[in-house]
Amino acid sequence: MGKEIVVSGIRSTGFLHLGNYFGAIKNYIDMQEQFNCYFFVADYHSLTTHPDPTLLKPNVYRVLAENIACGLDPEKVALYVQSDIPEIPELYLMLNMLAYKGELEKTASFKDKARSQPDNINAGLLTYPTLMSADILIHKAVKVPVGKDQEQHLEMARNFAQRFNHRYGDTFPEPHPFNFGKELVKIPSLDGNGKMSKSENENATIYLADTDDLILKKMMKAKTDQGPSEQNSTKPDYIENLFMLMKLVSSQDTIEKYDADYNNCVIRYGDMKKQLGEDMVNFIKPIREKTLDIQTNTPYLHKIMKMGQEKARESASKTLDEARKKMGINFYC
Ligand code: ADP
Ligand code: TRP
Repeated sequence: MGKEIVVSGIRSTGFLHLGNYFGAIKNYIDMQEQFNCYFFVADYHSLTTHPDPTLLKPNVYRVLAENIACGLDPEKVALYVQSDIPEIPELYLMLNMLAYKGELEKTASFKDKARSQPDNINAGLLTYPTLMSADILIHKAVKVPVGKDQEQHLEMARNFAQRFNHRYGDTFPEPHPFNFGKELVKIPSLDGNGKMSKSENENATIYLADTDDLILKKMMKAKTDQGPSEQNSTKPDYIENLFMLMKLVSSQDTIEKYDADYNNCVIRYGDMKKQLGEDMVNFIKPIREKTLDIQTNTPYLHKIMKMGQEKARESASKTLDEARKKMGINFYC
C-alpha cells in the first residue's frame, strides 16, 4: 500500500508565530518521513485582504524559509506555492458549483472577517473554504495537519468531497484534521484574548522572527495576577496558558517546579515568565538565524519552488483530469 497523502498550507500574510509552529509546522516535520506530504504557501488565500503587491514575494519567500528552518526537508516533501499550481483554481471553480451561499455565509471565519472588514466582503472571502477544499482534494489527501481554528473548514471539505462523489461517482476520499491522535492545538495569545495570530495581537504573539530582547519583553508583559490564595486551586485561563507554553519549550523539571509552586501558593510569576522567556529564546533563536540565511538565498528558493511545483502538478493534474471526466468535461475523446 502507498503512503497516506497529507496536505497543509500556511497563508503568506506575515511572520510565522508559535501558533503556526505548534499548530501546524511541528506536525509537518513529524509527518514528513512516514507520509506522502504536500505542503504549500497559500498565497491566493492571502489575497482576500488585498495585500500590497510588493509585499507578496518577500512574504512567500519568508514562509518557505521559515518552514525549512523549522526542519522541513524539501527533498522529502513537495513544498510549493499555491499559485504555481493552476489545477487548484480549476478544481476550486468546479467545487464552487457544489457550494451553497447559505453554508458559506454561515462559516465562522467568514462571519469574523465580514465583521472586521465590512468594506471588503468579497466573493473570495465567501468562497475561502472551497479554495481550501480544492487545495486538499486536488491531491486526494486524507490527513490535514492544522490547528484547531481550521476544524470547520475541514468539515466543509468533507461535505464538498461527499457531494461531488454522490453526484459524479466516487472520486475524493474524505480528509480529516490530524494531530497524531491528540486534540488539535490552539496556542493562546499572551494577553489572554484569543489566539496568537500573524496579523492581530502583535504584542501578545511570539513570532519566529522576534529578537531575543523582544521575546523576553513580550513574555514579561503576559497577563498574570497576585497568585492563588488557596492551595491546589484551579488555574485561571491566562495562567493555564503560561503553563501550556512552558510545556512546549521548557524542561520537565521546570514545569514541575512551577506547578508545585502554584499548588503551594508560593509561585512568583515574574520568575516564571523570565524562565519561560529564556526557554523561548533558546527555542526560537536557531530557527530565526537559519531563516535569515535561507530567505535571502533566492537561487536556492527558486530551485525549491520549482521542485515542489513539479511534484505537486504531477499529482494535481491526475486528479483534475479525473474530475473533469467525471463532470463530463472531456470533449476530445
Ligand atoms: P494565521 O491565523 O496566524 O494567519 P494561518 O491562517 O496561515 O495563520 O494558519 C496556518 C496554520 O497555523 C493553520 O494550520 C492554523 O490552524 C495554524 N494556526 C494559526 N494560528 C494558530 C494558533 N494560535 N494555534 C494553533 N494553530 C494555529
Ligand atoms: N485556511 C488555512 C488557514 O487559514 C490555510 C490553508 C489554506 C490550508 N489551504 C489549506 C490549511 C489547505 C490546510 C489545508 O490557516
